Amino acid sequence: MDAETIYDQVRQRFSSVATDPASERRFEIGWTSALKLGYDAATLTNLPVGAVESFAGVGNPLALDPLANGMTVLDLGCGAGMDTIISARMVGPSGRVIGIDMTDEMVNQAQQACAESGLANVEIKTGMAHALDVDDESVDVVVSNGVINLCPNKEKVLAELHRVLKPGGRLQVADMSLVDGVNPELLERVGEWSD
Ligand SMILES: C[S@@+](CC[C@H](N)C(=O)[O-])C[C@H]1O[C@@H](n2cnc3c(N)ncnc32)[C@H](O)[C@@H]1O
Repeated sequence: MDAETIYDQVRQRFSSVATDPASERRFEIGWTSALKLGYDAATLTNLPVGAVESFAGVGNPLALDPLANGMTVLDLGCGAGMDTIISARMVGPSGRVIGIDMTDEMVNQAQQACAESGLANVEIKTGMAHALDVDDESVDVVVSNGVINLCPNKEKVLAELHRVLKPGGRLQVADMSLVDGVNPELLERVGEWSD
């Protein structure tokens, strides 16, 4: 599959997770998934419903290391903005969070959720992980949840993350990787690359 086909399929899939999360049948998303992945129930309750219902992460990257007051954070593939909003609250008004996602419907959800949360320190924009509209050496922490596995050009994405991170900055990533023993038939099935 070429990269453009993968992008089209990823957009199609996640636009429906954004606009009609109840229709998702292939993997668990939303509240149940977030709780299983270790997010705190009280934190989830204080988030806009849309951000939690369309949460499609695979782990809890924010549990790896706390974000400090004043930090600049990039949420790569921010989806409906759940980690973005939690990050924005962690870094406080003197910090800043940039959320970037290639699916317009996810970007709309995240923008709406940030507006509902009354956050002034967040910017959400449409963009591709391999060509980020973010300044060189401007970010303290890149947070990403379930995104890099969907990118066909992982080396370019990692090079971009390296470019935007300040020296000594860090990546907090929850993601999936291929393990030995995956059936070649499964790998061939269109769409299964993101399951
Ligand atoms: C599994 S969802 C996770 C969304 C969000 N991080 C969360 O935890 O709910 C993956 C997200 O990554 C976005 N995405 C996938 N590939 C991307 C790429 N190459 N550039 C930017 N965004 C991408 C999709 O649009 C989707 O919103």
